[in-house]
Parts: sequence; C-alpha cells; structure tokens
Amino acid sequence: MALVEISNLSKVYESHLAHRALDNLRLEVESGEFVGIMGPSGSGKTTLLNAIATIDEPTSGHIRIAGLDPLSMDKDEMALFRRRQLGFVFQQYNLLDSLTIAENIILPLSLDGLPVREMEQRLSAVADKLGITSLLSRRIYEISGGQRQRVAIARAIIHRPALILADEPTGNLDSKSSRDVMETFAALHASERTTILMVTHDAVAASFCSRVVFIKDGRLYNDMYQGGQRQAFFQKIIDMLSLLGGDSHDLNSARLP
Ligand SMILES: Nc1ncnc2c1ncn2[C@@H]1O[C@H](COP(=O)(O)OP(=O)(O)OP(=O)(O)O)[C@@H](O)[C@H]1O
Ligand SMILES: [Mg+2]
Repeated sequence: MALVEISNLSKVYESHLAHRALDNLRLEVESGEFVGIMGPSGSGKTTLLNAIATIDEPTSGHIRIAGLDPLSMDKDEMALFRRRQLGFVFQQYNLLDSLTIAENIILPLSLDGLPVREMEQRLSAVADKLGITSLLSRRIYEISGGQRQRVAIARAIIHRPALILADEPTGNLDSKSSRDVMETFAALHASERTTILMVTHDAVAASFCSRVVFIKDGRLYNDMYQGGQRQAFFQKIIDMLSLLGGDSHDLNSARLP
C-alpha cells in the first residue's frame, strides 16, 4: 500500500465563475519517495498540496495517507492527524520571531507534551543533522534565509511525521541557499528515507527529487524518475516544462544546475 493514495480528486472553486482547479487527479506516493510537483502557474499544485495537508477540502475524491482517511475526520481528529502525521515547510518559513531557533524547532513537541529531556535529545539530533547547532540560541531575524529554511525543515521533521509537505521551499532563496536547502532535503531523504512531497517552479530544485510529477489543468500529465543522474534529470525536466508550456515564470527559474 502506498503512503499517499489519491484518486478522482476534484476541486471546484465556486466564485463568480466556477473554476475546476483539480480534475479527477490521481497520485500515489510510496513510503520513502522524494517527489517534486511541477506544472504551469494555475495548474492546481497548491490546491493539491492543501487538500493533502487538510488545509482545504476537495469537492470530491479520495485521499488516504498512511492508511488514514483525513476527509472522514472531524475537526479535532484532523488537527491531531496534521500534527502527528505531517510536517510543513512553506516558502515564507512561518517561524516565530519572538522565539529562539531552538524554541521554534521544538514547538511541535511541546504541543504534544513530550518530556523536556526527550525534547532536548531530539533537538540536538535534528540540529546536528541539519547543520544548525551553532544557531540554536539566536532569534529568527539573526539568521539568513537559507538558514531559516533549514530551521523550518528541522521543525517539520522533529516529531517524525509520515510525510513532509513543502510548497515552494526555495521560492524566496538565492541559488546558493536554494542549493543548500535542496541538499538538506536530499540528505534527509537518503539517510532517513523521509517521504517528501514538494511543489516547485525551480527545475534545479526539482532535479534533487527522486521523481517529478507534472500537473496540467488539474490533472496528472506525466512523471519522471531521477535514476541517479541529477544533471541529465535537470535537462529532462527543462524539456518537459517547455513541452507543458504555461507562463514564463517556469523558464525564468530554469537556472543552471
Ligand atoms: N480560493 C480560490 N478561489 C477561486 N479560485 C482559486 C482559488 N485558489 C486558487 N484558485 C484557482 O485555481 C487554480 C489553481 O490554483 P493553484 O493555486 O492551485 O495553482 P498553482 O499550480 O499552485 O499555481 P502557482 O504555480 O501560480 O502557485 C487557478 O486557476 C486559481 O486561480
Ligand atoms: Mg501555488
């Protein structure tokens, strides 16, 4: 059984003009996969991620994550599900300025009432893994964008969720920091078999994934596997993006790997 099983997923936004943002989309993600989601602007990537994240409810369809059906849960179950099973990384980091780096990272654990000793052990292990140990007593405004995103990743994994969801995690970063963050994700994936689902416009970022899924008009268009050759994969991604068309945004971010 796949970790993420999505079938017939549709989302219709009912505004003055009804818009079908997801159209019977199907997607399966195996445990341990690192999957990138790409596609033209407006193709439904964020809508899909928000449905998986239980941030937004789809109009119809099925979602199973780790054998659980978030769509059948009540509000409290859903909040618990989100906190236990999912880890989030956003473009804008969503870290709390008034807290230290360490406090930001352990926040998900303190919500769950874990013993302090256990929290400290997990904090030091995770900080060590992400190379941010020397930053732990600083505040958010005292570290760089790339460091902020590594802190956000630490916060997303410290409660050992089944699935990490990331929407444009490198969207605010320069190419050097972007590469640091992607290397962090790739290392986590390689060492812990962390399952990651990441939306990105950046072909370089996507080339770090083990598979990239392309979405067009709310449907699954194609997917490709990396197979160990990141440079060659980058070129295949660029070719697929130009085949897909869409806005120039996609090609602007096609920096050299
Ligand atoms: N709250 C909303 N109300 C109405 N339409 C919406 C809403 N949110 C998104 N849409 C529409 O649904 C479609 C898919 O939007 P979505 O945000 O999922 O695209 P995306 O693939 O993430 O795009 P981008 O790459 O620009 O972030 C778009 O046409 C968008 O205009
Ligand atoms: Mg989006």
